[in-house]
Amino acid sequence: MCGIIGCVLKDDEAVPVLLECLGKLEYRGYDSVGIAISANGIKVIKDQSKIHQFAKNPDLNELSGKSGIAHVRWATHGTPIKENAHPHTDCNNRIAVVHNGIIENFKELRVELQNSGHTFTSNTDTEVIPHLIEKYLDEGQNLEEAIYSTTQKLKGAYALAIMFVDEPNKIIGIRKESPLIVGKGNGENFLTSDVSAILSHTDQVIYLDNMEMAILDGNGVTIKNLDGDSITKEIHTIEWSAEMAEKQGFDHFMLKEIHEQPNAVKQTLMEADEINNIIKKFPKFNKISFVACGTSYHASLVGKYLFETLTGVPTDVILASEFEYSASTLNENTLVILISQSGETADTLKALRIANKKSHTLVIVNVVGSTATREADDVIITRAGPEIGVAATKTYVSQLTVIYLMAILMGGNDDLLKTLENMPDYMEEALKTEDQIKEIAGKYSKKTDFFFIGRGYSYPTAIEGALKLKEITYIHAEGYAAGELKHGPLALIDDDVPVVAVIPPGISRDKTLSNMEEVKARNAHVIALGSSADETLKSESDEFIGLPNEINEMFSPLPYVIPMQLLSYYISVERGLDPDKPKNLAKCVTVE
Ligand code: F6R
Repeated sequence: MCGIIGCVLKDDEAVPVLLECLGKLEYRGYDSVGIAISANGIKVIKDQSKIHQFAKNPDLNELSGKSGIAHVRWATHGTPIKENAHPHTDCNNRIAVVHNGIIENFKELRVELQNSGHTFTSNTDTEVIPHLIEKYLDEGQNLEEAIYSTTQKLKGAYALAIMFVDEPNKIIGIRKESPLIVGKGNGENFLTSDVSAILSHTDQVIYLDNMEMAILDGNGVTIKNLDGDSITKEIHTIEWSAEMAEKQGFDHFMLKEIHEQPNAVKQTLMEADEINNIIKKFPKFNKISFVACGTSYHASLVGKYLFETLTGVPTDVILASEFEYSASTLNENTLVILISQSGETADTLKALRIANKKSHTLVIVNVVGSTATREADDVIITRAGPEIGVAATKTYVSQLTVIYLMAILMGGNDDLLKTLENMPDYMEEALKTEDQIKEIAGKYSKKTDFFFIGRGYSYPTAIEGALKLKEITYIHAEGYAAGELKHGPLALIDDDVPVVAVIPPGISRDKTLSNMEEVKARNAHVIALGSSADETLKSESDEFIGLPNEINEMFSPLPYVIPMQLLSYYISVERGLDPDKPKNLAKCVTVE
C-alpha cells in the first residue's frame, strides 16, 4: 500500500540506489512511481508506469545526487495518473514529499490552503503536506518546526520522507500509524517502509515510533521526539539476508515462495520453546478470539477447529474490519489472537488497539519490528522469511504452524507434535503434483467461474484456494462449506463451472464426497484433492490430485493448500498475468 524510500549517501549514486531499493518495494504498489533528487535544487521525475519501465526514462540519466526520496504508489485518493504520482511538491518546488497512508481531512486542508493562494496540481490527499510545510516555513519556522506543525494539522495515517531545497543532503522522516524504518549503513543511511528494500545495504535498523522524527544527513542519523529533543533508540540487527528477497531462478516470487513452504514450516517449528514459554504464563482463559484479514483470517479458521478440539476453549474468529462492531463482550478472560503477515494491516491494528483495552492480546506476525509486534502483549514470529509475492503463501503455512503448536501445547497433546513435525515431508510430496497441476491449469484456464468446497478443516483450505484464484487470475471463485451448496449456490452449478473438492481422509470425507456427487449430477467438472489411496474419489472425479494417505484431516490444511496455490499460479501464468502483482491489490493494506 505504497512504498517509500529515502537515502543520504556519501557519493552521487542516489538514483541507482533508490531505483534498486524501489524494486524491492514494488509489491506494496505498482500504479505509478516517482523520484526526487537533491542536485542544485529538487528535481522530480514521476510517471504512471511500473518500476522497470520507469528506470528506462532517459531523464533519469541527467540526475545525479547524494540524497533523494522515491515512491511506488497504490492509489487511494486520485486515479493512478502521472500527476497523482509522488513525490508531491509545494508551489515553488522547494519541498518534496513521499507519503504512505491516508490523510483523512485533506479536503478541508486543501480548501484552506487554496483560499490562501496555494496552487494544487494533483487530486491526492498527500499534496496538502508540502503546501502546509511551505506555509509554516513562510511564517518563519525552521524545517523541523514546519514539519511538526504540519503533522499537528493532519488526521489519518502517514509515513513521510521529506526534502527541502535549502537543506540539500538532508532527508526527514516522520510517521503516525504507517510503518517507517531507518536503515543505518556504512556512510549511507536510509528511510524505508520495509526492511527488505535495504537488505543489500545494511542490516542495522531503527524502528520509528509514532511521531518520532528521523533526520538523515551527512553526519548520520538523529532521532527526535515531539518536543524536538534528540533521543537514543535501539538499533536492531535484521536476520533476513538480501538473497532471501531475490527470485533465485524462479520465474516469480510466488512460485519461489510456494516451494519454500516446507522449510518455512520447519523454521517455524523451531519456535516451539518460545511458544511454550509464552503460553505457560497465560492465566486460564475461558474464550479465545482470533482476529485477522484475508489469508490470515483463513489460518484463523483452522485455529477455531483446532483450539476447540484440542483445548476445549470456545473459540471464535472475527474479521478484523468487523471487530469494532462485535467487541462488546471482550473481557480479561478472553485471549485475543491477531494474525498478520505484515503486522501493519490497518484493520488488524485497529482491532488490536480495541482488544488491548480489555483483553490479553497475542499477535502472530512475520515481520519483526512491525507495528503489531510493538503494541501487543505477546508476540510470536512466524519464520517464513520475507514474502514478496502479493498473494500470501509461505506465511499462511507458517501461521498455521504456530496455531498447531499453540493448540497442541495448550491442550497438552504433545503426542501430536510428531505428526506436525512430519508435515514438511508431506508438503514436499504435495509439491510433486506441480507438473500435473500445470496440465490441469492449461485445461481450465479459460473458465470464468469456479467453486471450491470442503468441510471441517478443509473448509478454510477451500476458501483459501478460492481467494488465491480470484486474486491472481481474476476468475470469479467461491469458496463454500460443502454442506452449504444445497442451500443456494447449487443453482449456479453447470458443466461450465469447475468445482475443486478438498476431501482428505477423515470424518468429513463421506459427506463431502456426497456433495461432490451432487455437483457432478449437475454436470460440473470436479477437480478432487484427496488421499492417493482413495479409489472412489479417484474414479468419481474428472481430475484427481492424490496426496499421501497418511495425512489426516486435522493436519491436511498444511499440505493440501499447496496444490491450490499451484493451480492459481499456473492459471495466472496461462492467462498471461503477473501472479506477483495482481491488479488493484497491494501486499500491505495500511488503510481501513
Ligand atoms: C491474500 C493476502 C491478503 C492478506 C490480507 C492480510 O493472498 O495476502 O488477503 O492475507 O491483506 O494481510 P496481513 O496478513 O499482512 O495482515
